[in-house]
Amino acid sequence: MSHLVSPSLLAADFGNLERDIMSVNRSYADWLHLDIMDGVFVPNISFGFSVVEAVRKISEKPLDVHLMIIEPERWIDRFADAGASILTVHYEACTHLNRVVNHIRERGMKAGVSLNPHTPVKSLEYILEYVDMVLLMTVNPGYGGQTFIGNSYSRIKELKEMRDAGGHDFLIQVDGGVEKTNAGKLIKAGVDVLVAGSYVFKSGNVEEKIKSLKNIT
Ligand code: DX5
Ligand code: ZN
Repeated sequence: MSHLVSPSLLAADFGNLERDIMSVNRSYADWLHLDIMDGVFVPNISFGFSVVEAVRKISEKPLDVHLMIIEPERWIDRFADAGASILTVHYEACTHLNRVVNHIRERGMKAGVSLNPHTPVKSLEYILEYVDMVLLMTVNPGYGGQTFIGNSYSRIKELKEMRDAGGHDFLIQVDGGVEKTNAGKLIKAGVDVLVAGSYVFKSGNVEEKIKSLKNIT
């Protein structure tokens, strides 16, 4: 399978969201990544249901929703109703992760689990057979435009080894500081889904930037 690209709308121009979503529609992007932040799990607040619903009406790409919130189980049904196709929760935010993942799948969404950069990959051992995707954060979540954390490559390698050893088929996604210069190395390390915000939206042509990530072999 060739890798997928999921541009992160957090870095778009919020005064021109429709314009930027239309650019993503015209591009080779596979999904559209939406970052939900609650000001508690991460030191920033982004946007909520009404924005997700509005984006859903314009986006032709499946919505890849990344929840950086505490108690995500309270909001699974609301995100399903708002139009999420993939719903990712943080391992660190879930006491009953198995229940949360099952709930996401029961609502017809793909279930993702995300790890902060310091959380051992091994922590996921007993959830891997139930998930559709693992999101390894490659920055500390909360903001766009941060520097990629170098030891992420060993984390990707370790997760890939666990996937192979267990015969699992979840996707490996990375998020944070992804750009053309590290995308090739990430894909070689075993990444299936690249999330990129600043690289795609902060300079130049959105469609070209997405194409440049998609064309990496
Ligand atoms: C960070 C978010 C990311 C963010 C990535 O907490 O989860 O999705 O938008 O932004 P860049 O690509 O600029 O690092
Ligand atoms: Zn994200």
